[in-house]
Amino acid sequence: MPVTAVVGGQWGDEGKGRVVDLLGQESDFIIRFNGGANAGHTVVNDLGTFKMHLMPCGIFNPRATVVIANGVMLDLEVLQTELKDVTAAGVDVENRFLISPRCHVVMPYHKLLDGLFEEAKGPKSIGTTLRGIGPSFADKVSYNGIRLADMANETVFRDKLETQVLLKNKLIEALGGAALDVEEILATYRELYSTVEPFVCEPFDIIHGALAAGRKILLEGAQGAMLDTDWSAYPFCTAASPLAGAAAIGAGIPPNKIDHIICVVKAYSTRVGNGPMPTELHGEEGDALREAGQEYGATTGRPRRCGWFDAEVVRFTAALNGATELALTRLDVLDDLETIQVSPGYQLDGEAVRYVECDARLLERCEPVLEEHAGWQSPTGDVRAFDDLPAAAQSYVERLEELVGVPFRVISVGPEREQRFTRA
Ligand code: IMP
Ligand code: MG
Repeated sequence: MPVTAVVGGQWGDEGKGRVVDLLGQESDFIIRFNGGANAGHTVVNDLGTFKMHLMPCGIFNPRATVVIANGVMLDLEVLQTELKDVTAAGVDVENRFLISPRCHVVMPYHKLLDGLFEEAKGPKSIGTTLRGIGPSFADKVSYNGIRLADMANETVFRDKLETQVLLKNKLIEALGGAALDVEEILATYRELYSTVEPFVCEPFDIIHGALAAGRKILLEGAQGAMLDTDWSAYPFCTAASPLAGAAAIGAGIPPNKIDHIICVVKAYSTRVGNGPMPTELHGEEGDALREAGQEYGATTGRPRRCGWFDAEVVRFTAALNGATELALTRLDVLDDLETIQVSPGYQLDGEAVRYVECDARLLERCEPVLEEHAGWQSPTGDVRAFDDLPAAAQSYVERLEELVGVPFRVISVGPEREQRFTRA
């Protein structure tokens, strides 16, 4: 280690929670640095199956200190529920869970506006998770946000909220929505704030103390590089950066202190929401992959769009993140397939073209070049070493690795903690 960032190399839902749960077992600090309750990490362990949106998956390592850092957009309703769930499962959060007072908070008007904007765009909508992410990050960078630090002071909170509700109601009513009531929001959010207040504490000194002492720190990312605001097919993205570079800002750790960057990718592709996805499978083939992988959103329950492994995308995101290694998840989902396709790159009007040369409009027109691989048609869920994988599965992984150009170390073959192995 000592400082490792885990980030997504596709469109989110790569199984980062799985990798964080694994590495989190040997970490002293686990820090969530970006996104909000739009994220959905599914963790399966001895205590049960948990769908986490905000609480870092590392909470299940009782020896670790867990931090929700400044880069995270907090949804206090969701966080309150997750706190209750993990506590009910027997996890002790006392003195080992910190939330940065710099975190901005999603307010009811953000969620309302998220829906109203999407509705107004109609067929051109983004397909957001409707968690208020775009509007709340917009407020953060347009100096209209409300932070936990503001909520700590009743007068400050009331003052800021009054201004925002006044402004937002104009917009809400213009878009045909019903105006919100300041007093109602104040009452609900004061109550919600009181449930997290014991955990609100500036973590800068603690994190920098841990860095100086060489403690093992895991930076837990949400979403995937293909949803980055700058580097994805804008506007089909999310509002915050899911890149390893964002881990430095979102957690307050200098970039040169991050030693390892693990980019997590699935053995095929999925995407929720709208926007280009060149290797998408339509019809029966896509349905079969969705059912085999039970590809339904952890946050919204929406069916995920499924397609073949897009090496053009992963090569790009591995470079963009500075991945020192890749983790490959859900290889077992491909177990039954007779043949598997991989896309080494794209063509546009008959010419080879790279992802980085295209905007959303061009990407919609890109055709993936497809390369066919023999399937292995045998279960891999019990495999615990690379050499024990069926030969066709080994060559599939080796081909992906060759196309991406970064070593694949952790490979997972099922949802249970032990269903994985590490290559040297
Ligand atoms: P938002 O982040 O809710 O504004 O949604 C913007 C886009 O990002 C939509 O296409 C969402 O489906 C997608 N998105 C946001 N968070 C996640 C995630 O955690 N996994 C997968 N897709 C996500
Ligand atoms: Mg997810």
